[in-house]
Amino acid sequence: MERQIGEKQQKEKIYKVPSSFLKHAHINLKQYKKLYRYSIKNPNKFWAQQAEKFINWFSPWKKISTGSLKKHNMRWFVGGKLNACYNCIDRHLETHRNVAAIIWESDNGNESRTISYGELHEKVSRFANVLKKQGVKKGDRVCIYLPMIPEIIIAMLACARIGAIHSVVFGGFSAESLCTRILDAGCRLLITADFGARGGQYIPSKKNADKAIAKCPKVKKVIVVKHTGHPITMHRKRDIWYHEAMSEVDAKCPAVKMDANDPLFILYTSGSTGKPKGILHTIGGYLVFVAMSFKYIFDYHAGDTYWCTADLGWITGHSYLLYGPLLNGGTTLLFEGVPNYPSFSRYWEIIDKHQVNIFYTAPTAIRALRHEGDDWVKKTSRKSLKLLGSVGEPINPDVWEWYYNVVGNKRCPIVDTWWQTETGGILITPLPGATPLKPGSAAWPFFGIVPEIINEKSKLVKDNQSGRLVLKQAWPGLMKTIYGDKKRFVKTYFKEVPGKYLTGDSAYRDKKGYFWIIGRNDDVIKVSGHRIGTGEVESALLSVPAVSEAAVVAVPHEIKGQSIFAYVVKKSGAKSDALKKTLNNRVRQKIGPIATLQDVQWVKALPKTRSGKIMRRILRKIAVNEFDDLGDTSTLANPSVVDDLIAERKKYSAKIIKR
Ligand code: PRX
Repeated sequence: MERQIGEKQQKEKIYKVPSSFLKHAHINLKQYKKLYRYSIKNPNKFWAQQAEKFINWFSPWKKISTGSLKKHNMRWFVGGKLNACYNCIDRHLETHRNVAAIIWESDNGNESRTISYGELHEKVSRFANVLKKQGVKKGDRVCIYLPMIPEIIIAMLACARIGAIHSVVFGGFSAESLCTRILDAGCRLLITADFGARGGQYIPSKKNADKAIAKCPKVKKVIVVKHTGHPITMHRKRDIWYHEAMSEVDAKCPAVKMDANDPLFILYTSGSTGKPKGILHTIGGYLVFVAMSFKYIFDYHAGDTYWCTADLGWITGHSYLLYGPLLNGGTTLLFEGVPNYPSFSRYWEIIDKHQVNIFYTAPTAIRALRHEGDDWVKKTSRKSLKLLGSVGEPINPDVWEWYYNVVGNKRCPIVDTWWQTETGGILITPLPGATPLKPGSAAWPFFGIVPEIINEKSKLVKDNQSGRLVLKQAWPGLMKTIYGDKKRFVKTYFKEVPGKYLTGDSAYRDKKGYFWIIGRNDDVIKVSGHRIGTGEVESALLSVPAVSEAAVVAVPHEIKGQSIFAYVVKKSGAKSDALKKTLNNRVRQKIGPIATLQDVQWVKALPKTRSGKIMRRILRKIAVNEFDDLGDTSTLANPSVVDDLIAERKKYSAKIIKR
């Protein structure tokens, strides 16, 4: 896996920091270098300064940090007391009562709502009282399955206010995925809506929730937001309308004093095996890290309008739609819809409508919009923009150039931010006033972050050689554990390379210290930036009786980045076309539409080692018609399987071309 990166990539263009940016940026190049050095040499001092600057503490910590990556038991700001909701809202009230906290833009564009800090305080306090009335207490897990409407933020902050742990499940997930997550977190209360709206389509949130809860006996109460107003079935003893519950409580609810190392939320993400991991973040370290990284990476200034297009069901939504902006007293835009509805100009129109200054999105959206041509962009002004961001997967240099030249009119730096659900916040990124930009590179480590590239033997590789990306030094945003599965937490991230955090990504660093992320080196597929575990998809396929074996791999996709390619051994007698449909339906039903299969290839057998492990390396190559250089196949239990696979693939590709 270690390989030399060719000269070609070394001749990339470099974009200097625009002079307009140098004038007002929080951090310039000199400051970055100095502060970075300080942050990694004196992490405790550095993080203590940030914690004092960015967060209000009810009482100070006794120790800045304890534990180590080696023992995977880091704790930050030990003994400190604070409340996340108080930090996001209450402490800004004196100066920001009438400042917009949230600007909400509806799917169809007919409706926008602005919620000031004062109003948000009132609504969150009220909803916190609703939760209390339903018996929710400190430490209880609350599941939130809502579309991108203000109530999702209200619900998350209300949980934080009373010390309950929110577990947001992406509104596009199926009933089964929702059920698995509710059960794993042991939630007793669920918050949902009648329907969600996306691209003019209605998503039956309540119906999915009903289906999920049928298998979750511990859920005793469901709070339902009336959003689209379409008819739904309410269960008399179990379901409560949000608006009715809100009118029955008052708006006084003090923020509970929490310990810095108490949990703030659980967020599920895919790993290599079938079961999603409940990533648990704690309050103190997470808040310090997202508050300060938000301000410096997005160069946020008071009065800026900031828009992150990520769904709140993902970590980007948690850290940089909600917590980062609100901790800084910022104005965050919440968009319910999709980039191509009602037209491919939608994003750019919203930027003009709300005078957005900072725009943060994913390469998959940029690729899809670029594909439709420049006119959709050029007919809008986008003059308000000053900074662009990218997250979730590598951004191809030509797509980067388009984003820079066409969307940003060559004026706006792009921050290509690398991080993960587990890391809490951004770890490798340019700083817009400091870093000369190289299209396609996530650039340099953020303060306090020490990335390294190592080979299979855990030895550091040379510059321009690819290897495994690990992190050598602890930072406050790192998750605390996998909820209910400490063993898996240790095994996944700390066992293979003791003393370092293993990211699961491969990358290389060039001679100028720029990091280039290549992609995952485990069994995680990134479809439109969403993490999907091969194991999850394979379990779904194997649940169809006509399937005897299945293996899925990632294949490149022009818009989605990667898509899912399935190899299936079917039982004799099963009809191919009908089965293909069944398989796709099953995957969508078990996981959700994001996991749709790109293609299914019927095969006689799968390549396996003598110990029975599927050799995905071979399957990945064959899926993209690379039949030479399949590597060492001598450890296969039955090497002739490879010849069959190649023949089947060639036959299948020929059939597609004919069609
Ligand atoms: O492979 C990396 C990719 O996304 C993974 C983390 O996915 P998730 O936990 O869903 O979080 C996504 C949003 C933070 C990483 O292991 N990734 C994330 N950002 C980038 C990236 N790959 C390349 N460039 C990035 N900027």
